[in-house]
Amino acid sequence: MCGIIGIVGNKPVGQRLLDGLEKLEYRGYDSAGIATIHKGQIYRLRAEGKLVNLKGKFLEDPLQGYNGIGHTRWATHGQPIEINAHPHQNSKVSLVHNGIIENHTPLRQELEAKGILFESETDTEVVVHLISLYMDKGSTPQEAVSKSLKQLNGAFALAILFKGYENLLIAARKGGSPLALGYGQGEMYVGSDAIALAPLTNKICYLEDGDWGILSPEGVTLYEKNDHPVSRPVVENHLSESAISKGSYDHYMLKEIFEQPRTIEATLNAYLREGKIDIPKLPWDSLPRLTISACGTAYYAGLIAKYWFEKIARIPVEVDIASEFRYRTPPLPEKGVGLLISQSGETIDTLAALDYMKSNGQTILSLVNVQTSSIARQSDYVLLTQAGPEIGVASTKAFTSQLTALALMALEAARIKGVLNEKAFKEKAQGLRFLPPLCEKVLRLEEQIKGLAQVLMKAKNVLFLGRGIHYPLALEGALKLKEISYIHAEGYAAGEMKHGPIALLEKDVPVVVVAPYDELFEKIASNIQEVAARGAPLLVLTDQKGAAHLKDIVDHFLILPMTSDLTAPSVYAIPLQLLAYHTALLKGTDVDQPRNLAKSVTVE
Ligand code: AGP
Repeated sequence: MCGIIGIVGNKPVGQRLLDGLEKLEYRGYDSAGIATIHKGQIYRLRAEGKLVNLKGKFLEDPLQGYNGIGHTRWATHGQPIEINAHPHQNSKVSLVHNGIIENHTPLRQELEAKGILFESETDTEVVVHLISLYMDKGSTPQEAVSKSLKQLNGAFALAILFKGYENLLIAARKGGSPLALGYGQGEMYVGSDAIALAPLTNKICYLEDGDWGILSPEGVTLYEKNDHPVSRPVVENHLSESAISKGSYDHYMLKEIFEQPRTIEATLNAYLREGKIDIPKLPWDSLPRLTISACGTAYYAGLIAKYWFEKIARIPVEVDIASEFRYRTPPLPEKGVGLLISQSGETIDTLAALDYMKSNGQTILSLVNVQTSSIARQSDYVLLTQAGPEIGVASTKAFTSQLTALALMALEAARIKGVLNEKAFKEKAQGLRFLPPLCEKVLRLEEQIKGLAQVLMKAKNVLFLGRGIHYPLALEGALKLKEISYIHAEGYAAGEMKHGPIALLEKDVPVVVVAPYDELFEKIASNIQEVAARGAPLLVLTDQKGAAHLKDIVDHFLILPMTSDLTAPSVYAIPLQLLAYHTALLKGTDVDQPRNLAKSVTVE
């Protein structure tokens, strides 16, 4: 997703804008730019591609000024070339934008009919000319922005500079594009998230939908959508530098994979204390249905949760990807609970699913990794995965923290429903305490997993198979591989092989199977036989018992510790993450910022 940074202050901003954009790189982008006001004039630099290109231009032309904005663009309208990079400007106004102006076409037509010439293909540029036109007619910058905002439809965040106004920066937010303001010493900041502002300040406030603010070095005046003055709470963000840096790792993704024993433990410690599970007291014993909605990896966590809630807590669960759920308008039960799962808490489809559930009378519970996110702020109850900032575009530690929280929720719901007696409850809850050491053990298999990556890196297509709670894990393993190595991969329910995918099997289509020795092992063992019979290379993740049953037919094993239904998904997720990571390294792709991808998808 695009990233915004802005500083209005009392010392040079150029280099600090570039530093802020560096913190935003993780969101995914394909061009970048900055603009400053100096002696009343607007100066701008833009470059396509990675930030290094913009930095090169800055070295040649270090923009001056104490007031400026910066942007990393993830192209939605218009190619990722310099002319479409932000900031967009004319002789009066320079601005950066996240999100989409949904009515940009009619607005552009109206403006062009008035003789205004556009230089870019973007939706953003209409805002520049709209504000300018009001100023031409005598509006102040504040009045011009207020009038323009009322004409814009869509979800967007804006930061705006004005020629001749050295100490003015206006910020605005509408819909799902988050925007944070930062308070400094004689300076004010604006950023897409707290990570961008971390090097500048830890005093943050978040604009709500429809808010806009007039920033100066002395502070900010905030207005809500109908221009009434409003104030928003200022929170202290404790994002340490180590939390948002790679440390000694080559990539954020590798660092975050290796953080998982600690982040799982932190999540356990947050909700499992003295044998008791502390989750929101929802009507678990009378719940007609739990409706879960999410996207990508978070959706796969929801699929695994379905198995747990239905099998352990006997609660009916429906899970759907948010981009489908929000438009198929499903009937929802009276007194139902909606559970939204999202690392960023900003995914626009998941936010829309929340809105649908809320408007249909569901109690909203969200499981997010960012406490101040839009999804969290619109929920009745929030569970926070204690994973810390996840910077790598491929979600890893957030996933296993989600699984840990979901397992605890299923256990507590089962206890409240009385379908799990105290003894069994305590045993299962304490069993989760083995997760951190189990994950430590699996991480020590990295060298072996590197070897297995050699098998995948030559493939054009890879199949991932699993049964039961390992079927969503097969989907997740396929997603990890495809999104960072660009190898086509597909996750499938192993029992479905004979209904079609078995036609794909040949010697250069590796098949990765998630197959711990559990109650479905015999079933998946026959699927493995079917694969072996067709000569496709087999990589089987299993334990000692499983390996003993498969030793004559499998080409490559990864032997993992014995697990339970509650610990297996997190334990088996780690090798799938490392397999994808090392395959991507061999392919030479950009592991932390894969092409076309964004860390948080805040546009439809
Ligand atoms: C996962 O590796 C992907 N980056 C992506 O599928 C992600 O899980 C999805 O966009 C949902 O993001 P969220 O958890 O922030 O809502």
